[in-house]
Amino acid sequence: MINGGAGVAFIGSGSAQLETALSNDMLSRVVDTSDEWISTRTGIRQRHVANGEESLASLAAQAAQRAISAANLTPGDIDLIVLATSTPDDLFGTACQVQAAIGATSAVAFDLTAACSGFVFGVVTAAQFIRTGTYQTVLVIGADLLSRWVDWQDRTTCVLFGDGAGAVVMQACDRDRLLGFEIHSDGSMNGCLNLAYTAAAAPLTDEISTQKGTFTAITMNGREVYRFAVSRVPEVLEKTLFHAGLAADDIDWLILHQANQRILDAVAKRLKLPNERLVSNMAKHGNTSAASIPIALDEWVRTGKVLPGQKIAMSGFGAGLTWGAALLEWGR
Ligand code: COA
Repeated sequence: MINGGAGVAFIGSGSAQLETALSNDMLSRVVDTSDEWISTRTGIRQRHVANGEESLASLAAQAAQRAISAANLTPGDIDLIVLATSTPDDLFGTACQVQAAIGATSAVAFDLTAACSGFVFGVVTAAQFIRTGTYQTVLVIGADLLSRWVDWQDRTTCVLFGDGAGAVVMQACDRDRLLGFEIHSDGSMNGCLNLAYTAAAAPLTDEISTQKGTFTAITMNGREVYRFAVSRVPEVLEKTLFHAGLAADDIDWLILHQANQRILDAVAKRLKLPNERLVSNMAKHGNTSAASIPIALDEWVRTGKVLPGQKIAMSGFGAGLTWGAALLEWGR
């Protein structure tokens, strides 16, 4: 561990390449839906699903290695790994498996769960460790395999989600490139979106009953979640811009959690941001939960659209309910 400056820079991104794509047409052979319904209501044309060989840890490790290479670092340079996920391989945590897989032997690693807001919450968490001088170089990974937990017979949810992993390397620097952030929770609306443990009584002795349950497939009140997103996301972005002393027009790229194209369009419209600055890759990936923002960021960086010095506003929102935004300047 080396003490760095008080600032945070965003110096490399990466994402995993999943082998299996599942198109809307393929899905319509599994459940009563159609490409027309899914694409017009959501903007999604296909999603990727992890195959039998891939795991949360293996895909997170792939994204991590690419981000570390893009930052011109080696795994030994990483001091902290924050793995944002709601779909771990192991409920005790998967971050340590990723640490071992990539050989980040100096890093401490832990999981962070905040559903689709997980990556933004992870970036904010990482920034605290860097700003206090505790850690110099932090890897934040967003990875989720929701295909494990959707009910493939429930057309109101299964068409939305996909699997993926993305990562970013953050490092201490003199000039702070994290220009602002805000994160929020509202547990009173928890019932809108769940992947809940359901307990079943398991008698142990005559007097004591323990429980042995299981997690039930994702349930969602789509309309409530939609209403929540189109009101809270513009609000949190406006507050974050205000803290940074910036206006929406100063944003070069708006990277929202890729939940629904209609949500993205509504937020951009509210901010009066031209569509060219709105990042969208959901046609290709669907909603990959904590992975969606870092995958989109990585795709825009690798195709040369995001340039060093440009300002990126990102906002995650989802189960919890949780939501948040971070405003940053890309590059060293
Ligand atoms: N294929 C075909 N028809 C479907 C369908 C599917 N996959 N899913 C629902 N339908 C049907 C419904 O049964 C309903 O039929 P009915 O009118 O005969 O009852 C009709 O389509 C309309 O359903 P509704 O739920 O009102 O659709 P909607 O316009 O609200 O769109 C969502 C549904 C899920 C796309 C939308 O509510 C949404 O995007 N919400 C936000 C969800 C989200 O982003 N969640 C993740 C946040 S992290």
